[in-house]
Amino acid sequence: MSFYDDYVARTPMSGKEAKRAQAIIPGGVGSAIQFWPPYPIMIKDSQGPYVWDLDGNKYIDYCMCYAAMVAGHADPVIAQAIKEQADKGILFGLPGISATDLAEEIQRRYPVIEMLRFTQSGVEATMYAVRLARAATGKMGVLKVEGAYHGASDILLVSTAVPTNTAAGPEWMPSSVAESAGIPEGTWKHTHVVQFNHLESLEYQLSKHEGEIACFILEPCMTNGGVIPPDPGYLEEVRKLTRKYNVLLIFDEVKVGARIAYGGACEKYGIEPDLVCLAKAIGGGTPLGAFGGRRDLMGLITPMGPAVHFGTYNANPLTTSAGLACLTKVLTKEKYKEMDRLGEKYAKGLKDIIKRLGLPACVTHEGPLGGIQFVPEIPHTYRQANQGNKGMWREYWYGMLSKGVIPMGSGWFEEYSISAAHKDKDIEETLNISEDVLKEVKKLA
Ligand SMILES: Cc1ncc(COP(=O)(O)O)c(C=O)c1O
Repeated sequence: MSFYDDYVARTPMSGKEAKRAQAIIPGGVGSAIQFWPPYPIMIKDSQGPYVWDLDGNKYIDYCMCYAAMVAGHADPVIAQAIKEQADKGILFGLPGISATDLAEEIQRRYPVIEMLRFTQSGVEATMYAVRLARAATGKMGVLKVEGAYHGASDILLVSTAVPTNTAAGPEWMPSSVAESAGIPEGTWKHTHVVQFNHLESLEYQLSKHEGEIACFILEPCMTNGGVIPPDPGYLEEVRKLTRKYNVLLIFDEVKVGARIAYGGACEKYGIEPDLVCLAKAIGGGTPLGAFGGRRDLMGLITPMGPAVHFGTYNANPLTTSAGLACLTKVLTKEKYKEMDRLGEKYAKGLKDIIKRLGLPACVTHEGPLGGIQFVPEIPHTYRQANQGNKGMWREYWYGMLSKGVIPMGSGWFEEYSISAAHKDKDIEETLNISEDVLKEVKKLA
């Protein structure tokens, strides 16, 4: 039996329920990324680093809702904060104090964030940050990185994947490719694309569109394309070039923020962007995002200025209480050290297995976030990562699932995410399973 057949054989209840869901919900899922063929597992329960599906199978989870569940599943401290707030009311459409408390906690971690506004998700955070940059500069152009995902807004859902045909353009001068039907040309034609870790590509676009670009938005450590850390010196040069061309620098830290370090990428790499976008970790698993940065820029937000930002659910007490409990009580500085230690242990373990097996694959990681890439050389760009052997990835995916591990998010370009709830024993068990699975994967090399 193949790993795929094993997977189907041990998940009949998920299959049955997925069929019911698919009749009424496209794909049976809330977001396309939650689907994989023939159906995803359907979750009954979760605790710490584990989830259980409808058939009672237990999984060690490294997807952790695409790195949002940094505290682990069903964390009791966060659950308590939610319960206490629910007893007092969950939505007023008027400010309460937990939003200010959380904003101050974020500012302690991110001194560069002088002011911030909360949103309900990462996509809103990036969308509003771009609007603010445009409002502040009066310029409409936006620069983004090829392969980077910043949420599915019309402005930024451009070149998030790279077609293998010529539509992608040369590596250092990628074309802009809208990634969904229904995006008007007028929206994406202002979005220009550069290659990550490629300064010539950046300078080319900055000089070609000089005077037109409002902002350069990038994930300082790319997490779409496995995990691709910045090359030494790259971000420093990015900061210099954006200043030279008078372009605002936006760090999209939706995934890495308060995740790869206490103060996220700004702290880890020692760079000061003009604006930062956050989500995932700051909400403790509830739908919460934020964008913030320089006071003079944030002062342009309504009602202080002309850049509109609205939202019925913005800064609601339920999500801000959960986020506050997560950041102040669960994700302490010691927890970051522990997640880093486990991240090192896991990456080293995987690298050792790959070496022992002579597998044409590599591991890239930044602390607890990482990726196994089925390419022989460490990739520095999305395009290089995209050369990976997709058949091997598929075998790895179903092999791990059928042995009780969700090894990463459900696509080759996703990452594994080690949470505050993972323990040494989980890492060790996962490495043993990985060795068994990768032995089979190697047969496809
Ligand atoms: C880097 C990055 N930015 C933005 C987003 C969009 O966030 P959300 O799914 O909360 O809208 C994501 C989602 O995974 C992301 O990884």
